[in-house]
Amino acid sequence: MKDFPSKSIDLVLTSPPYADQRDYGIETSLILPDEYIQWFTPKAHQIYRVLKDDGSFVLNISDKVVDGFQHLYVFELVVYLCKNIGFNLVRDYIWYNPATPPNVYSRGGFGRTKKSHEYCFWFSKSAEWTFNLDSIRKPYGRDMQKYLQGKGKGDRTQNVRPSTHNFNCEKIWTDNGGSDPGSVIEIGNTNSNDTFSKLCKERGIAHPARFPEKLAEFFILSGTKEGAIVLDPFAGSGTTAISATRNQRKWIGIDSNPDYCDLATARMAIEFDGGENDV
Ligand SMILES: C[S@@+](CC[C@H](N)C(=O)[O-])C[C@H]1O[C@@H](n2cnc3c(N)ncnc32)[C@H](O)[C@@H]1O
Repeated sequence: MKDFPSKSIDLVLTSPPYADQRDYGIETSLILPDEYIQWFTPKAHQIYRVLKDDGSFVLNISDKVVDGFQHLYVFELVVYLCKNIGFNLVRDYIWYNPATPPNVYSRGGFGRTKKSHEYCFWFSKSAEWTFNLDSIRKPYGRDMQKYLQGKGKGDRTQNVRPSTHNFNCEKIWTDNGGSDPGSVIEIGNTNSNDTFSKLCKERGIAHPARFPEKLAEFFILSGTKEGAIVLDPFAGSGTTAISATRNQRKWIGIDSNPDYCDLATARMAIEFDGGENDV
């Protein structure tokens, strides 16, 4: 990233190694929770520098239980990125993965449930950033669809909920093509039979922590315009690049494990060229 020009990237969307000692085949990714901020600081400075002034940085990350309690490094990092690097927190998103398998916590002996979500923190570099809600609207629920078809019950012009929320607003009841999806993104991470997994099996290499294409798409569609440049400095299997390409954005992916770079390149070739050409 040090060689990239300043202010050249529209969106940095990435999931760095978490401080959970997962093995990515390279020593440098075994980061201790207490050392995480120190490890991430030079990367954060580069991310800030290469982003355009109206660019965004989306950080997918999760934490870890250490000595019986959830370690605070994720929250400390968010504060650090804002107070020391210069980012602004736009929204903290929860990626809820309903397909999280049961694990040691599910036996109930550790005083907590399994963790079935991760965080996606959306940061801006300045007070202006690209955001397109229409690209990520979700289909209206049944009730809203009825109201829009004029079949709803009740008077929508005088609608004050018991919670005192006032829905007495014409705009809320107009058809915008779908509803605001909110800040909980539900996507099951079930990618064990996809192109990349098959390539991994063929080559005897595994990648332990990929995010789903739909998650990347949520931020690429809403956070950039067509033709934008999306950077993933911890690209792994190339999910960000795949989603960027599908959605007419340009991309740059970096990973320190050359095997993953080769696999991601092969994945791109299969997904987009039927394996005929290198990408
Ligand atoms: C959580 S994974 C990213 C997975 C990716 N989002 C995907 O969907 O495949 C983190 C990646 O960071 C890579 N990595 C670890 N340390 C790195 C470093 N210092 N610079 C670049 N990549 C690194 C690992 O090899 C791993 O592929």
